[in-house]
Amino acid sequence: MKITVHDIEFSYNGSPALQNVNTAIEKGDFVALVGPNGSGKSTLIKCLNGILKYRKGAVLIDDRPMDAFTPNELAKEMAYVPQSENKKSALHVFDVILLGRKPYIYWKPSEHDLRVTANIMKTLHLEDLAMRDVNTLSGGQQQTVYIARALAQEPDILLLDEPTANLDIKHQVEVLELLKKLANNGITVIIALHDINMAMRYATRIMMLKKGSIFASGGRETITKENIEELYDIKVHIIRDNGNIFIVPDRS
Ligand SMILES: Nc1ncnc2c1ncn2[C@@H]1O[C@H](COP(=O)(O)OP(=O)(O)OP(=O)(O)O)[C@@H](O)[C@H]1O
Ligand SMILES: [Mg+2]
Repeated sequence: MKITVHDIEFSYNGSPALQNVNTAIEKGDFVALVGPNGSGKSTLIKCLNGILKYRKGAVLIDDRPMDAFTPNELAKEMAYVPQSENKKSALHVFDVILLGRKPYIYWKPSEHDLRVTANIMKTLHLEDLAMRDVNTLSGGQQQTVYIARALAQEPDILLLDEPTANLDIKHQVEVLELLKKLANNGITVIIALHDINMAMRYATRIMMLKKGSIFASGGRETITKENIEELYDIKVHIIRDNGNIFIVPDRS
């Protein structure tokens, strides 16, 4: 699904967090939102999924205003993996992931709901944790469970706020490869990501946010030494290897 953002603005108690944000994200795009701490990545993601109400502007999903969707309709189109989960109920891992099927369930999960849940648990190697209380899991295991819950929603748009922040390098690659596969199958993926090198490797589009506005946006070529240095106010080196480039901090 396509998302069009028309000039949105958002403030927390009068202090602006987003301004003049305009963009069009196409079906199957894999968009990495990058930018310094406090630049507005989480706020933008929350405006895109309706958790926060922007003060001005509009968000269209396939040309339909977001406000025109009922919460249940929206939940079938869009899933969200928060940066951190506040309300942690004492639920088993299986039940947390099954919650992703809620928009489709009247009161009793169908065979299909159970199958979708089980398949996602298999894909993300969560089967051994199925009956564990989610609160007893490690940070990375919990994050994987919340990714699984979002996938169980079978959304057309996936919004993920630093989903790999607690994951080891192997699990980071696994999650990003899976997201890439989903994007290749037409799911629109929008992910806040601090690791610029991972963003460059996986995203088809890079959106840089600085002080609540889009600083630069485009393909991987948007990640230049100049842009990164200005965005983060830090000196960096570019390392070239086999056609790939890597950004590392300049230690001199
Ligand atoms: N609930 C809130 N109340 C007041 N101000 C907030 C709230 N949430 C965020 N802000 C402020 O809005 C700005 C943008 O925050 P946001 O969380 O969107 O940044 P971010 O780019 O996601 O940062 P990070 O990389 O640290 O996650 C920051 O200045 C932040 O302090
Ligand atoms: Mg954030």
